[in-house]
Amino acid sequence: MRKLQLRLQLSRAKHRSLTGHSRMARRFASLVPFYEYDDSRFFRADAAPDEIAAARRAGFVRLAAVFAERFQKTADLTAEIAGGVSDLQFTSRNRVPFQFSGYVRRHLKPGAFVESSSGVTITDLDGNRLYDVTGSYGVNVFGYDFYKECIARGSERVRELGPVLGAYHPVTAYNVRRLLQISGLDEISFHMSGTEAVMQAVRLARYHTRRTHLVRFCGAYHGWWGDVQPGVGNPLAARETYTLKDMDEASLRVLRSRRDIACVLVNPLQALHPNASAPGDSTLIDSGRKAHFDRAAYAAWLRALRAVCSARGIVLIFDEVFVGFRIAPGGAQEYFGVRADMVTYGKTVAGGLPVGVLCGLAQYMRRFREDRPADICFARGTFNAHPYVMGTMHEFLQRIDTDAVRALYHGLDDVWNTRAQALNERMAAAQLPVRVANLSTIWTVYYTGASRYNWMFQYYLRAAGIALSWVGTGRLIFSLNYTEADFAAVAGRIVAAAEEMRRDGWWWSAPQLTNKSIRRRVLREMIQARWASAGRPATSPMGSISSPRIK
Ligand SMILES: Cc1ncc(COP(=O)(O)O)c(C=O)c1O
Repeated sequence: MRKLQLRLQLSRAKHRSLTGHSRMARRFASLVPFYEYDDSRFFRADAAPDEIAAARRAGFVRLAAVFAERFQKTADLTAEIAGGVSDLQFTSRNRVPFQFSGYVRRHLKPGAFVESSSGVTITDLDGNRLYDVTGSYGVNVFGYDFYKECIARGSERVRELGPVLGAYHPVTAYNVRRLLQISGLDEISFHMSGTEAVMQAVRLARYHTRRTHLVRFCGAYHGWWGDVQPGVGNPLAARETYTLKDMDEASLRVLRSRRDIACVLVNPLQALHPNASAPGDSTLIDSGRKAHFDRAAYAAWLRALRAVCSARGIVLIFDEVFVGFRIAPGGAQEYFGVRADMVTYGKTVAGGLPVGVLCGLAQYMRRFREDRPADICFARGTFNAHPYVMGTMHEFLQRIDTDAVRALYHGLDDVWNTRAQALNERMAAAQLPVRVANLSTIWTVYYTGASRYNWMFQYYLRAAGIALSWVGTGRLIFSLNYTEADFAAVAGRIVAAAEEMRRDGWWWSAPQLTNKSIRRRVLREMIQARWASAGRPATSPMGSISSPRIK
């Protein structure tokens, strides 16, 4: 009976979306057939009338000409290596929904190379200066020049030691002291990536609690290690992971009653879109993307988690690889006013070089048991605490204490909330179907009218001189050094790009076009494509997947 009750409780704590059901999501993903739109269907996947399709085509041709001329060198060099770089192939395929991807890749080639950075801009091989909102995956908190200085000065500090590993360079002592102060925790370990820091946190939590399972919340990213990525993307099911509903009492009930939970992993960035995966344009098939940040509600949720974890001896881990140092000098712990048992940092904290850091309470960080010398918790890494990483980290940690950097944090949320609101007001006044939601400097674009073409916006933004990462409009990351003038320039370009996209007919609307009707249509297409390929082998003798085209 108790087993059944626990099972039911677990089911109730799962989010109803596929994101909440890892196994089902993986199964569903394996069933989605490949098909793509041909030249005519590409422009009227929403059954728009001929004149709208013609306007879209004209806009697309113009945009393609702009791309071909403006990004030529950058695109050429990218094409030269793309066949040999799996990462590039993956990201370029997954910029937009797969039905459109092939056509887009053939005609709109932004390229993957950048030559230099300065202020809030980057410059590509063709000499285009673009406003950077990629944020370098979140690394760039204080502006690229800040990191260039960290790297230059930090490297200078450790040059005499060079690449000696195992022994520490003396700058490491300062880094340890400072990071323990900032985190408010007792011990630290250095790693080479955020993924590794999370792995180590979970491994230690399992070791000390002698329990098996980790809890993560629906949609949260914690790196690409198998146990924290149980759904699509991981060929194996993660058996010792519970994916629970974020901000939901049902999840607290699970934490209160199960005895196999070692730790709870929280990525505070989820506060912007609880229970949804990081928004990327490859899944932007309609306008269903939603985002809204409620600081007080999320802080209350963290307090509730803190209480239940303390009561049940579960290790509460804040994964601050993304938000650490970005939302407050003391990261999410300070920002939300809740303390964790372990905190992971990464991205920005090594001043621009690769790193992962784990800080934790002594009772959870120890890798051995005094009374059981052979029962250890092993973790090493050749490059951990690399002198150059420690050197730039030292610069970073010193510089964030300067008045100039401290000043960047003053009124931070007010500044960015006001900017987001002003942009939304401009969009609303111009009757454009685009809005933004933000958690401080981390923004996401969402769309207010049903459309199949929102992902096109990333290309209009690019043409307007704004550099986005490969996830497109799902994530805009600003650095704190964006001045009012810089932001005004970007906001102006965003509005102009949206106006141009509207002029080209991509946001055509009709009463019958709703998010629901779009999703239905896509589902029908998928079923049709599966039927079309049924009877044929899924793989040709050469091993390539058959690809019916939808006319
Ligand atoms: C919250 C969080 N945890 C972990 C990671 C993984 O870090 P890395 O890419 O350095 O392995 C990321 C990366 O985006 C992240 O955002």
